[in-house]
Amino acid sequence: MKIIMLGAPGAGKGTQAKMIAEKYSIPHISTGDIFRANIKEGTELGKKAKTYMDKGELVPDELVVDLVVDRLAKDDAVKGYVLDGFPRTIPQAEALDAALAKRNEKVDFAIDVNVPDENIVKRMSGRRACVGCGATYHIVNVPPKKEGICDTCGGELILRDDDKPETVLNRLSVYHEQTQPLIDYYTKEGILKTVDGTVPMMDVFSAITAILG
Ligand code: AP5
Ligand code: MG
Repeated sequence: MKIIMLGAPGAGKGTQAKMIAEKYSIPHISTGDIFRANIKEGTELGKKAKTYMDKGELVPDELVVDLVVDRLAKDDAVKGYVLDGFPRTIPQAEALDAALAKRNEKVDFAIDVNVPDENIVKRMSGRRACVGCGATYHIVNVPPKKEGICDTCGGELILRDDDKPETVLNRLSVYHEQTQPLIDYYTKEGILKTVDGTVPMMDVFSAITAILG
């Protein structure tokens, strides 16, 4: 099963993608997580990506597409995957379709997790991410058992660099301009499914599993 998660920054793509990956035993591939891992390791890709991410801009398509296409060719992706944060532009979606078409494959579902802008800034300022394993919490909605400490690995929980309110606002406007057109793109392909992302996360998950079967 090949699934794409669409939605504004903070809509809950990562939260849902992790649960989908577990339930259907497919890898969760997040381009944001890949870039953050590269930034942490100090790679050339990480250094380049950071200059865009810190401003809330998109990393240029040419730095993203090959990375994802290579990742999808790995053995663990033969049965499918859940893509989180990719594609994010029409050229990325076209590049993905072209790469899959070469192998006679196609995306099965594009799931749009719909959350209005006014809910987003609140969510992002409360989000905490683990420096160790990348797990995501929210200080009010999804709190860890012990404040500031990851339930899974005991790592420190921090506010992501790009979750400051002014950067979040820019990420939202970049989303509307460059990523929202993908809703039409996947509607035309006949695979778009929209779920309400404002309800509790287990209810969002139930709506998604009802679609995926
Ligand atoms: P990326 O890491 O993909 O960030 P994003 O799209 O901005 O999305 P987020 O990860 O912030 O939100 P999310 O939807 O995953 O929400 P989450 O589940 O955490 O990208 C970061 C940057 O990398 C980009 O800005 C860009 O620069 C670059 N980049 C990445 N991919 C790229 C690409 N393909 N091309 C170019 N550049 C790229 O949830 C948010 C919060 O809400 C959490 O605290 C969570 O606990 C809480 N929450 C979740 N669900 C619920 C619920 N139902 N109710 C209440 N609270 C909830
Ligand atoms: Mg995410």
